[in-house]
Amino acid sequence: MRADRPYDLVLFGATGFTGGLTADYLARHAPDRLRWALAGRNPDKLAAARDRLVAIDPALADLPLLTADVTDPASLRAVAESARVVATTVGPYVHHGEPLVAACAAAGTDYLDITGEPEFVDRMYVRHHAEAVRTGARLVHACGFDSIPHDLGVWYTVKQLPADAPIAVDGYVRAGGRFSAGTYHSALTAFSRTGETSRAARARRAMEPGPDGRRVRAVPGRVGRVREFDQWAVPLPTIDPQVVRRSAAARPEYGPDFRYRHFAAMKRLPTVLVAGVGLAGVMGLVKVAPTRRWLLGRLASGQGPTAEQRARSWFRVRFVGTGGGQRVVTEVAGGDPGYDETAKMLAESALCLAFDDLPETAGQVTPVAAMGDALLDRLVRAGITFRTLSA
Ligand SMILES: NC(=O)c1ccc[n+]([C@@H]2O[C@H](COP(=O)([O-])OP(=O)(O)OC[C@H]3O[C@@H](n4cnc5c(N)ncnc54)[C@H](OP(=O)(O)O)[C@@H]3O)[C@@H](O)[C@H]2O)c1
Repeated sequence: MRADRPYDLVLFGATGFTGGLTADYLARHAPDRLRWALAGRNPDKLAAARDRLVAIDPALADLPLLTADVTDPASLRAVAESARVVATTVGPYVHHGEPLVAACAAAGTDYLDITGEPEFVDRMYVRHHAEAVRTGARLVHACGFDSIPHDLGVWYTVKQLPADAPIAVDGYVRAGGRFSAGTYHSALTAFSRTGETSRAARARRAMEPGPDGRRVRAVPGRVGRVREFDQWAVPLPTIDPQVVRRSAAARPEYGPDFRYRHFAAMKRLPTVLVAGVGLAGVMGLVKVAPTRRWLLGRLASGQGPTAEQRARSWFRVRFVGTGGGQRVVTEVAGGDPGYDETAKMLAESALCLAFDDLPETAGQVTPVAAMGDALLDRLVRAGITFRTLSA
């Protein structure tokens, strides 16, 4: 039935910064057979976004434009019912995300986003996972720099270790780049909602079944020196370890007892201290409404790093995995993490759900659980490095 829908893919948010880059990526790299459309709340901005795509590929002059607003559930229902896959870059997701998740879960439509907001993901599990399982929709969050390199990087590492023994993996992230207004707003919003985030996590834990007869954990590490990489490691409480743990719960390849720790890697200890103090200061300021409003007003939606700034940006995540008496060190690396590579990751994930031969899954699923090797192969072909440094 879903094959009869007019579109393979609808991109929601193409008038924003990351959505615009995702549309550009699709215009350059999507196969000719892709039947796709752009969706957004402002028809004039949508038309301008399409004009930009026509400069990349004149055949896109007739690319359909769908008007939809997150405050209008009927418009989202129409989008969800018209597509096999919907990818959205409309954030902060905790404010704008749920109506589209609900529409996709109800319509049996595959849904992808690039959220890094744990509260949103946990709430969507509690409210929409069961309905998506019933309709067959795959709800795949965190398909950007949060959390594709970490989720697929651990998957790539684990597959090189025996699956019948306990496995431990440590991930060390380094990145250089600037952020967009959308990322800035989403991060400040998440910092101001630590109570809501804990409550959402508790509600999820109370109803989510654990993996049958296996143990999977994501545990905080400690600040310390990693001699092997000549760097300092600082525990990084992003959404990534949660995504990795859920992938480990979903796939037997992670073995009978899996443990993951997630770190930021830094060259110098003073950088660690300055980053910690700076973050603590911002987290304090966003708890107070007037300073939060002032901080949120510093950047306007649609702004982001220039092409030159993005060209200088990079990321590298190293993983050290041990299990069954073996040790493997791997690396995932690429260019501008937040935007060029996030656009690539989201677009390739959407094409993967639309066209690839994938395991049967439904409900809220991680990138690895939904797409695994098919997505890994796509990302490698698209220029993201996955390599084994030592085994
Ligand atoms: N995980 C990652 O690695 C990663 C990387 C990049 C971005 N992100 C996330 O992606 C999100 C977008 O970031 P961005 O920099 O692209 O933000 P942005 O430039 O501000 O774009 C926001 C988009 O949301 C749309 N929008 C806002 N309210 C809407 C509504 N009521 N109905 C329909 N559309 C609405 C805007 O439409 P208009 O143009 O009409 O205003 C715009 O298209 C953020 O949550 C950010 O954190 C995550």
